[in-house]
Amino acid sequence: MKHNYFLLLQLILFLHLFRRIASKVEFTNIKCTSLDKEFDDFEYCHLKSVNRSYKYFSLKANLYKIPITKVKVNIALLKRYSGYKPFLYNFTVDACKFLKNRKSNRVVAYFHDLFLAHSNMNHTCPFDHDLLVEKVSIDFINKQFTEVLPFPTGDYLFQSNWFAYDINRAEVNVYFTLS
Ligand SMILES: *[C@@H]1O[C@H](CO)[C@@H](O)[C@H](O)[C@H]1NC(C)=O
Ligand SMILES: *[C@@H]1O[C@H](CO)[C@@H](O)[C@H](O)[C@H]1NC(C)=O
Ligand SMILES: *[C@@H]1O[C@H](CO)[C@@H](O)[C@H](O)[C@H]1NC(C)=O
Repeated sequence: MKHNYFLLLQLILFLHLFRRIASKVEFTNIKCTSLDKEFDDFEYCHLKSVNRSYKYFSLKANLYKIPITKVKVNIALLKRYSGYKPFLYNFTVDACKFLKNRKSNRVVAYFHDLFLAHSNMNHTCPFDHDLLVEKVSIDFINKQFTEVLPFPTGDYLFQSNWFAYDINRAEVNVYFTLS
C-alpha cells in the first residue's frame, strides 16, 4: 500500500510538469502492435491533428478469442537519450482484479481515469467485445492538473503491454514530447 502511494505521488508530480515546465506538450506518435494476430489485431490506431493545438489519439482492437477472463497490463515510461531508456515507472497490474476493486491500486486508478475514461473498457472482466479508446487528448490530460514541478524536457514513450492468460498479445506505445 505504501509503495502504491509513493508511486502515485511520483506520478502526480510527473504529470504536474506537463503544465508549466514544459511550455509545450505534444503527442508525436502512437504505435499499436498485435503480438498474436490470432488473438487480436488493431482495426485502427492513430493520432489526429484537428488544428495546431488539438491533437488526439484513438484506437480500436479486435479480439478474436472472447470472452477474455485474465488480463494483465505492464506499463512503463521511457525517456529518449541515445535510445529509449526506462524512466521512473515500470509496473504490471492485474486488470481483472483491479476492475473488480478499483481502490486496490491508486496508481492504476489514476491511469484508468486518465485514459480509460475514454474507452469502452470501464467494466469488470470478462472482455467479450472489441476494445475502443476514443479521442484522448493532451488537453484532457493537462486539464487534470494545476500544479507544477521541474521535469526534464525531452522525448518520452509511454509503453503498455497487454497480456491475456500471461502471454503478451499486444503493445501500445504512445510517444510524446515535453519542450
Ligand atoms: C482546435 O479545435 C478544437 C476542437 O474542434 C477547438 O475547440 C479549438 O478552439 C481549436 N483551436 C484553434 C486554435 O483553432
Ligand atoms: C519492465 O519490467 C519488466 C519485468 O521486469 C521487463 O520485462 C520489461 O522489459 C521492463 N520494461 C522496460 C521498458 O524496461
Ligand atoms: C466507470 O465505472 C464506474 C463503476 O461502474 C463508475 O463509477 C465510473 O463513473 C465510470 N467511469 C467512467 C469514466 O465512465
